[in-house]
Amino acid sequence: MRVLVVGQGGREHAICWKLKQSPQVKEVYAAPGNAGMADVADCVPIGVADIIELADFAEKLKMDLTIVGPELPLTLGIVDEFQKRGLPIFGPTRLAAELEGSKVFSKEFMRKYDIPTPEATACGSVDEARDALKKSKYPAVVKIDGLAAGKGVVIVNSKKEADEYLTLVFEEKRFGNAANRILVEEYLTGEEVSFMVLTDGKKLVPLAPAKDYKKALDGEKGPNTGGMGSHSPAVVLNGETAAEVMRKIMIPTIQGMEAEGRPFSGVLYAGLMLTADGPKVLEYNCRFGDPETQVQMMRLDDDLAEVLLRVARGNLGDTKLTWKKEAAACVVVAVDGYPNDFPKGQEVIIDPIADPAVVIFHAGVIRKGDKLVNMAGRVANVCASAGTLSEALRKVYEAVPKVRFEGARYRRDIGYRALKQLAAK
Ligand code: AMP
Ligand code: GLY
Repeated sequence: MRVLVVGQGGREHAICWKLKQSPQVKEVYAAPGNAGMADVADCVPIGVADIIELADFAEKLKMDLTIVGPELPLTLGIVDEFQKRGLPIFGPTRLAAELEGSKVFSKEFMRKYDIPTPEATACGSVDEARDALKKSKYPAVVKIDGLAAGKGVVIVNSKKEADEYLTLVFEEKRFGNAANRILVEEYLTGEEVSFMVLTDGKKLVPLAPAKDYKKALDGEKGPNTGGMGSHSPAVVLNGETAAEVMRKIMIPTIQGMEAEGRPFSGVLYAGLMLTADGPKVLEYNCRFGDPETQVQMMRLDDDLAEVLLRVARGNLGDTKLTWKKEAAACVVVAVDGYPNDFPKGQEVIIDPIADPAVVIFHAGVIRKGDKLVNMAGRVANVCASAGTLSEALRKVYEAVPKVRFEGARYRRDIGYRALKQLAAK
């Protein structure tokens, strides 16, 4: 098989790394890829949003499968373009990707199909938003409707904070058209977990649940990020809760999307809050998680290419996935300042690692001459697998200093909640 992976982050590096282990996969291409992916794939300089160029490339090389990492090309209709040309591709169509592309659409969808989610009001102007906030309690959550690179959700603790944010959104137009509408949402407490299924639009196969640590700083402090670390198993999600999530959330979502004439194929990712009233959906993503994929790929026993090709062909059938018993953990090394302002183009040094159970997936790292430099806030994902989660975390933290650059910052408490929960069992 010849496979193309669209994307340039740690998630896509992990996908390429896993594909490379498949005896069926002879060639892996990445567009545009990153410095780490160049070790396991041929990188081609086509951007993730250049859909026509990507389709032309896949057509020319007779790609057997294309796997899309990030949400942007999905919401722009990459799958529709490939399908029009008869090219096998893994991911949802533009209409199905609206589940992630529009938070207002997904909220209305969840209401219609009785899928548990926090209460929210859609607002199209600053006055409507002020009105909705008057009726809600603080803290409250304000969400931009469209894609905002992980920066579109803010928790406001007071009227003053809310007013400042609304000025930014509606008057300064910080998010452009993505914020023509916003949601004012009820703030929930509980523990967050990511739950994903592979689906061909009819059958659903759960991926091993993973826990993502979204806040920038230790102790769940600081702003939300794309994710600062992860592990699998998630620990917090036991078999019973997983079954409840499938029954109340994942299956009704796939059935609802079919009923809406937007059949969903690919990975459906639900960002959940486990509340005292049961699991509730904070958001949907229409793609693999980053950094959840890194730990899932380390634990997956099956042939990724074969499974994703089945999804792309719409014949998932009775596929079951097998997961290694070992735990896997990941710590993201980011540039100080991320997710806000941070320097780019800094030299990054990654020392070799002897332990085969440790893998460093590159994120925002590109090669410039004979050097590696950062071009994004998340620079590298240090991952390890081991018999226990605490051992996997120990290996990860031992290897973190191998990633060196000025202003390197990482959370020192990844896995702390899971280890506490394990100790209490
Ligand atoms: P989202 O993109 O909607 O998942 O939001 C990003 C992050 O904001 C989530 O991972 C949560 O940490 C937080 N968040 C979103 N919605 C809520 C909510 N209703 N209550 C509490 N925290 C939330
Ligand atoms: N780690 C969160 C995300 O992939 O959206």
